[in-house]
Amino acid sequence: MNDCLAARDLPTLPASVRIVEVGPRDGLQNESSVTVGDKITLVNQLSAAGLQYIETGAFVSPKWVPQMADSEDVFHGIHRTSGVIYAALAPNLKGLERALAAGADEVAIFASASEGFSQHNIHCSIQESLARFKPVIAQAKSSGIRVRGYLSCVTDCPYDGPTSPQQTARIAHALYQLGCYEISLGDTIGRATPLRFAAMLNACLSDIPAEALAVHCHNTWGQALANIYQSLLMGISTIDTSVAGLGGCPYAPGASGNVATEDVVYLCEQSGIHTGIDLQKLALAGEAICQRLGRRPSSNAALAYIAGRTQT
Ligand code: HMG
Ligand code: MG
Repeated sequence: MNDCLAARDLPTLPASVRIVEVGPRDGLQNESSVTVGDKITLVNQLSAAGLQYIETGAFVSPKWVPQMADSEDVFHGIHRTSGVIYAALAPNLKGLERALAAGADEVAIFASASEGFSQHNIHCSIQESLARFKPVIAQAKSSGIRVRGYLSCVTDCPYDGPTSPQQTARIAHALYQLGCYEISLGDTIGRATPLRFAAMLNACLSDIPAEALAVHCHNTWGQALANIYQSLLMGISTIDTSVAGLGGCPYAPGASGNVATEDVVYLCEQSGIHTGIDLQKLALAGEAICQRLGRRPSSNAALAYIAGRTQT
């Protein structure tokens, strides 16, 4: 290292991160051409690559998101690796019942920090959604299942415009008080940049410990890795990612996929942050599902790996 760069100039980063792989859910909830078999193969490849938390499906209304209607079949078909958490979305009691019957290890409810997205995504106001989640959390807990809470539109909403940090912090805290063990802060349309993201995180951190926060960055404007690095600097060490950068939300027009798992694994491992994930196996899993979808992975790290392999 250059002598001019004293050790005190280097930022402090977490020693390890927990990656929440959302590809089989967030990544595929917009895709209608994927079979149950493809989904099962993907989940199995992800666990073989070392992912410890895989959001495997969504027990939402098939009327609204038909692409997730086969979640029971996916849960029944996967090979369960010991220690891996196979989770699912459960927006209401009906969803929770289905998740429990399918053997989900954990469920996630999902709220919005903005009214517009709440109405479009789950057809109720923020307050109504919080009331709806109360019995879901109580029932999940009495069944021995932990509940994760997503909060969408934490900096920007496709319908209402910018969301204030105070508004996001208020609803994040409400979800935390309802009993969610972790709040995943979603930049649903990927518009945030690091300073605005930091202001939002600061507001949330005043009421919720860093250990109970996760970040969920869609990469529509190419800012996800920058926002994730900012989150790591602020002590947040749970990161939602999607293999090959798959995905988007059916109710966030134009939103592209989550940050690619491969890119986050590369960033972390090269920065001395342990992920426990085998990048090569992960890139192969992403390549396989992308071949099935007829497109290239949206991951620079995966594309660099694939290019390197074909050169040798
Ligand atoms: P609702 O729209 O208010 O209507 O549901 P409902 O309660 O009257 O139900 C409509 C129909 O769906 C009824 O059937 C229900 O029985 C049925 P019908 O009487 O018409 O035959 N139904 C269900 N069926 C199976 N499982 C269920 C279920 N619930 C109702 N669980 C609800 C409200 C929230 C359920 C609905 O609007 C819904 O499922 N929306 C889906 C929203 C969704 O999945 N969005 C994408 C995921 S969120 C996301 O991507 C953001 C995130 O990634 C974070 C980020 O990026 O910001 C998490
Ligand atoms: Mg999402």
